[in-house]
Formats: sequence, structure tokens, C-alpha cells
Amino acid sequence: MCGIIGAIGYPNAADALLQGLRRLEYRGYDSAGIAVSTKTGFDVRRAVGKLNALAEVISTSPLKGNTGIGHTRWATHGGVKIENAHPILAQDRVAVVHNGIIENHRTLRKSLEAKGCKFTSDTDTEVLAHLFVDAMDNTDNLHDATAKVLGQIEGAYAFVIMTTDYPDQLAIARQASPLAVGLTDEAIFVGSDAIAMGDVTQKIIFLKDGDYGTISHDHVHLSDSDGQTVNREVVVVAASPGLVSKEGYHHFMEKEIHEQPDAVLHTLSAMTDSNGGFHLPQFIDFTKLTAMAYLAAGTSFHAGLIGRYWMEQLADLPVVTEIASEFRYRHPSLRQISLALGISQSGESLDTLMALRYMAEKGVNTAALVNVDTSTMARESGLHLITRAGPEIGVASTKSYMAQMTVLLILAVVAGHQRGIIPDQRRQEIEAMLSSLPRLLGESMACSDTIKPMVARLAKAKSCLYLGRGTLYPLALEGALKLKELSYIHAEGYAGGEMKHGPIALIEEGLPVVAILADDEHLGKMISNVVEAKARGADILLVATDSAARQVVEESPELAEMVVTVPDCDPLLAPLLLSLPIQFLAYFTAVHKGTDVDQPRNLAKSVTVE
Ligand code: G6P
Repeated sequence: MCGIIGAIGYPNAADALLQGLRRLEYRGYDSAGIAVSTKTGFDVRRAVGKLNALAEVISTSPLKGNTGIGHTRWATHGGVKIENAHPILAQDRVAVVHNGIIENHRTLRKSLEAKGCKFTSDTDTEVLAHLFVDAMDNTDNLHDATAKVLGQIEGAYAFVIMTTDYPDQLAIARQASPLAVGLTDEAIFVGSDAIAMGDVTQKIIFLKDGDYGTISHDHVHLSDSDGQTVNREVVVVAASPGLVSKEGYHHFMEKEIHEQPDAVLHTLSAMTDSNGGFHLPQFIDFTKLTAMAYLAAGTSFHAGLIGRYWMEQLADLPVVTEIASEFRYRHPSLRQISLALGISQSGESLDTLMALRYMAEKGVNTAALVNVDTSTMARESGLHLITRAGPEIGVASTKSYMAQMTVLLILAVVAGHQRGIIPDQRRQEIEAMLSSLPRLLGESMACSDTIKPMVARLAKAKSCLYLGRGTLYPLALEGALKLKELSYIHAEGYAGGEMKHGPIALIEEGLPVVAILADDEHLGKMISNVVEAKARGADILLVATDSAARQVVEESPELAEMVVTVPDCDPLLAPLLLSLPIQFLAYFTAVHKGTDVDQPRNLAKSVTVE
């Protein structure tokens, strides 16, 4: 979940590396560094903090050279300090950039220290650097030295190694963490993903797990995990957009919230035939499925929870939606599950990837719903569904979450129709309804004006509860997650009916409770839950569709301190439309508090460690 990049044979490599790191900053932003190879060794610049700190260091003290490696870090082993920033060096012979975790690093470190190695950082990465020094002393080429090191390490990793012993080569390896090689006429690049190299090339080789090798300015030599030389296919990826700009918005998140009508429109168009009917890019025979598993993390998990309600309700197909990091470790009974769907914006979250691989090993068909079509999950899954949200830069997911929900609803409708649960007419109704979703989302943006003046109170809160029922319960979880991650206010999401079983004890005078309501079968019960909270002193903030809000006000005029509404819609669309005020609430609260909205502390956009 760090970003790594390397270049060999490229004039002014440091400029290209820095540009590549900008495209990788979504993977981590605790510290960054670049090293280039010089006639006498390495020239290294590192800086703690966001990439601009490194850019500043380099602008006052430029780097010259045509071979180099770079890194943007999300700390795992070792705190956020300059000593732990990559590239990490050993004996001025090896420089390493590494993503992932070397799980046996403690044992290795002890034995290396016993041999006299001096460590200068707390990182697991430094072990790699010293192992390379040792391996180069005991082999006669860099390829064999790499194989020797790989025989000693365990874990999930991708790395690029630069050495003074072999200045015309870089050593590379991938195990569970992503790594790709980019080919140009004059030079060869390597990076965590194709996007990192988007400024210089579209010709990409995606390494497979266990692959390792060496690259020079005009040659790639790869071996697989058995040590056999392999030729991996060169893929021409779609032009990756230049560095995405904020286009006048204050933050990427704000821009991405506003891009949601488009994200849905593009996603829908890719899944709609000329008659306006839904079609999936690849056929899934839902009549043959006995049950599905939706596996995901973070916000994608919340989309999966909502998708489960739809699939069960519209297609009578059982779904388990699980946090990917827990799934395989609880040794689940898989007898009924005939298709596992990984849901992931990046297509790289290691927890989700490993859960999908676990399912594939157990003989379950796997599919991936991703926003990055060149991602590992897309490439590894038999079936893939793409959300067309476009690059999402803000760490807190918004538009890809919206697009995920859109696809999950389409899946449920197609499944329900195939399984004879939804008649033609209902299917057409939902298709028509979904085609109006971009417009409805556009209209719902107006809620931001109501929300802005509300957030001053919320920003002062120490804690906050979000309540919802049905598909609005996962939205309550998502609302709480967004508030936590963006504005660092403690928040919990609960199913409205569950509140009386414990969380109600938390309610005291002035505790903000965000109640999410639609005009659906749960409305009456939700109103009662909100009344119970109000009776105990909570400040109620109502996030509701117009007619739900009207009914609350009619029934209990004094209930809510603040009300924000979106246009009326079928209950199926309610979690999509009501996501907007939920996102704005977290966004404006964070802006009010002055936190770093696009890059909240301790987080990363894509997490490729367990
Ligand atoms: C990280 C991000 C979250 C995201 C989660 C899953 O934790 O900070 O915003 O929801 O990963 O990411 P994915 O790319 O798999 O959807």
C-alpha cells in the first residue's frame, strides 16, 4: 500500500519518477523518496509528509541520472520518520523501494545483525536491502541474487532494487502486491500500477504472483515462482488520464461528489442495450446459482451490504456480504455459495483479493466489480464488471461507491428477472427508474446548500450516531465511516431497531443523531426509533426523502433540529439518492474543522497489505 516506481535509461529519470509518484500518491502519503544511480553510488532525497515536501527538497537540490527508483509510503513497520522513508539503503550498494510486508523480517533481522549488519531504520524493508548485499556476494548475476533473496523472505510484497554492483539493471519481484513493467522505445519503467507510468507509456506487462527478474533499458528478463523464464504478454492499456485536476472545486472529494450523476450515467450506458434494457458484459446464469458471497472492505463493503438486500429481495438469491479480511480466516462453510463477487474500487485491496483467491482455490467461481479495469482483481477473476466512475482521487470513496450500488442493483434486477421473480413489467419499471437516476442525483445536489450552515454544530460533537433501516442501515454505517475518516469525530452506524438493544445508553443531552429515512416500509418504525432518541435528549438531524420528511414533521413537528431532503423516489433508489446528503455532511464538517479532506490522516486510497 505504498507506491513504488523505477526507471532505467530515461533522461532525467527523477522528473519522470516524481510525476509517477504523484499518480501513486493515492497509495500512501506519509513520506516519499527518490534515489538515482550516479557514477559513484546513489543520490537520495527523502522527505516526511506529502509528496510536495519531496518535490520541494528536489527543487532545491535536483537529482541527475537516468536510472532511479521512487516511493510514496504508507507506514506499516516503523513510524513516520525520515529514517523509515524509502528508498532504504544498505552499505551504499543497494537501494530498495518496497510495498507490502516481509512477514519473517524479525527472524531475518536478528540473523543479519548477528552477521554484523547495521540497521538504520525500523522497517522490514531494510532486511531486503541487506539480504541483497549478501546474495550478490554469493551469486554472479542480479537475477540469481534476486531468486536467492526470494527464497528467504515470506509475506506479500512488490519491490524494485537498484545496486551499484549492477548499475545497468534493476531487480524486481511481485508476490501478492501489484507490480507492472512499462515499455518505452528508449527506457523501461516499473511501477505499482499502469497509471503510475501513464505519462510515459501505455505498453504494460503485468507481473503475475511469484514473478521476479531484472530489467535493463531495453530488456526484461522475468522468471516465474519455479525459476522458469517466462514471457508475459505486453498489454496496451487505455490512455490513462493526465494528472486529474480539481477543476475549480476545493477538494477532489467535492469534485467527485458532483461527478456522481456522470459516474452513474457512464456505468449505466455500459450496461444498457439499444432498447434501454440492462445487459451484463458477460452472461451469468443466475438460475444455476444457489447463493453468492459479496466480499469487500471499507466503503465497498457498505455497497455490498446494500447489494445483498437487493439481491435477496429482487431475486430471492441468498447473499452473504462479508468483510474480506475476516472471511477466509473464519473457515466459512461454502457449500451453498456458487459465485463470489469481490467489490473494490481499486481492484487491488489485498484483503479482498486474498478472499477472492481463497474462493477460487475452493473451487468457487469468482467475479470482480472494480473501477480500475487493469487491476489485479479484474485480471484474475473469470468475470468482471466495471464501474465507470473514472479515476477517484479523494481517499474517501464517493463516486465509485455510487457506481458500485448502481451495478449491484442492475445485477439484482437481471438475476430476479432470470429467476422469474421479477416480471417483465417490473424489470422495465426499474430500468426506466434507473435511467432517471443521473437526473435525480443532479437535482439532489441542491441539498448541499441546506447542509453547509448545519455543520458548525456537528463539528463540535465528540460523537455521533447514524440510524437507518433496510437498505438505509448500510448507509448509516457508511455515513458514520465517512464522518470518522474525514473529520475524526467518533461515529457509529446502527440499524434503527437495534438501538434499543444497547446504543440507546449512549444518548445524552445534545448527542447528534443522524436519522436516514425514506418513504418505505420502515418509515413508521424509524420514526418511533427517532422519537425514542429525541426523548432522551438527542439532537435529531433528519436526512430524508421529501415525503418521508413531510410525514415526520406532520407526526412529530418538534422532532428534528435540522432537516435535509432529496427528491422523492422509489425505495430502491433511496440509498443512492440519500448518499449525497450523507457525503456532503461529512465533507462540509471536515472542511469546517480544517482537516485534510482528500488525504485524511493514517489512511490510504488503496490498501495492499493485510
Ligand atoms: C481503503 C480506503 C477506503 C476504501 C477501502 C476499500 O481503506 O481508505 O476508502 O473503501 O480501502 O478499497 P477498495 O479499493 O477495495 O474499494
